Amino acid sequence: MTTVQNDLLERARDSVIIPVLVLDDPASAVPLALALRDAGLQMIEITLRTPGALAAIRAIRDAVPGLQVGAGTVTSPATVDAARAAGAQFAVSPGYTTALGRHCQALSFPLLPGAATATEVMVARDDGFDFLKFFPATACGGIGLLEALRGPFPDVSFCPTGGITAENAGDFLALGNVACVGGTWMAPRAAIRSQSWPEITALAAQALQLLRRPSGSPSA
Ligand code: 3PG
Repeated sequence: MTTVQNDLLERARDSVIIPVLVLDDPASAVPLALALRDAGLQMIEITLRTPGALAAIRAIRDAVPGLQVGAGTVTSPATVDAARAAGAQFAVSPGYTTALGRHCQALSFPLLPGAATATEVMVARDDGFDFLKFFPATACGGIGLLEALRGPFPDVSFCPTGGITAENAGDFLALGNVACVGGTWMAPRAAIRSQSWPEITALAAQALQLLRRPSGSPSA
């Protein structure tokens, strides 16, 4: 694994949770980021699925120090460039292409690429990526598939995302090949729309309290 990818893995492991955020109004970006940082979260992913997503990343980078901001739904080299220009510190993609991987490597830009099958894991790993987003986690086989992938790929770590909830997150994190979990459950789109910042802080703090590994415990 490259140093860039290894740093991303270590940061994700420390963070435990990477909230996946869909922002309809860029004006919500800073209060939302503050609400999550207040809860103790260290990393967030802003999905590039809404028109204001890049502006939201820029606003958070300018106003909320101490939070690592990633761009999600990155699917092409051009999207990587746009995310970097907006200030994103890492990229998350739902799947993997060699074009995307090579571009990020050329820029020394951290990428968390998605994979959901053994073949996809092999393609990404061949290109130097062995910390992968396992997506869509519950729809594509959940815990059973992650356990099965650990046999042939004991060196690959995953961030399951898609269908992760307060109820099942702990079961995913208990797996030896899971470094962190991602999802929307602590910052649901409806709560963001209604600007329910204290509710989001409470949900995120509760999730961290339940899921944070005791310090010094092995996590993989
Ligand atoms: C996504 O890309 O939307 C994420 O996987 C979040 O999924 P979730 O809403 O099931 O957490």
